[in-house]
Amino acid sequence: LARGAAEPDLAGRHVVVSAGGTREPLDPVRYLGNRSSGKQGYALARTAAARGARVTLVEANTGMPDPAGVDVVRVGTALQLREAVLKAAADADVVVMAAAVADFRPAAYAEGKIKKREGEEPAPVALVRNPDVLAELSADRARPGQVVVGFAAETDDVLANGRDKLRRKGCDLLVVNEVGERRTFGSEENEAVVLGSDGTETPVPHGPKEDLADTVWDLVVPRLP
Ligand code: CTP
Ligand code: CA
Repeated sequence: LARGAAEPDLAGRHVVVSAGGTREPLDPVRYLGNRSSGKQGYALARTAAARGARVTLVEANTGMPDPAGVDVVRVGTALQLREAVLKAAADADVVVMAAAVADFRPAAYAEGKIKKREGEEPAPVALVRNPDVLAELSADRARPGQVVVGFAAETDDVLANGRDKLRRKGCDLLVVNEVGERRTFGSEENEAVVLGSDGTETPVPHGPKEDLADTVWDLVVPRLP
């Protein structure tokens, strides 16, 4: 389908997409972050809107402007993202977790800037686990038949790790892409395999992130009740 002339096959549906990467603060000036640009999540939000969906985009630290016709909720940390996604998911037909959610956050937040001291080694940074939003969404569907989609970035044994992750998370579809220094992060293009809980495997050739987004919606639509 030519872009801009999409079939309105998501009309009447509420779609929630998370995008970007969470930042976990250490002190008022520092955080633990990741290299997610948010471009894939934004492409998902734009294409869903073009296909007629009402879209809620939960955005973490992308610095990108709001896409036209999309409700944007801005968050910073994994805990804030979890709260915003669960709230929006309450009446959603589809939830797509494209955001890179930090697995860990600093165990303590220093109210004042952490200072170095002459002749002293730095203290190690203690971390605690963040909740797994995708696993939680998949286990407790807010609505019967709600379709839940995850993303996985892998550097090794991409398909085997992807299959394993799909099972562990309990989602319906998992978009698996191989990552490395020059691949995926910040790029305009992507290449992936979409794994289905029904055992299907849909390869998506290297191309614009919009094309991968449209393939995701093509796979979501027939799964909707
Ligand atoms: N995810 C999530 N909450 C987390 C971590 C990840 O919802 N705390 C979601 C991501 O949004 C993504 C999917 O889970 O859709 C897979 O993320 P990934 O980091 O690949 O999976 P992990 O289970 O964290 O495994 P790994 O140890 O490989 O990082
Ligand atoms: Ca992770």
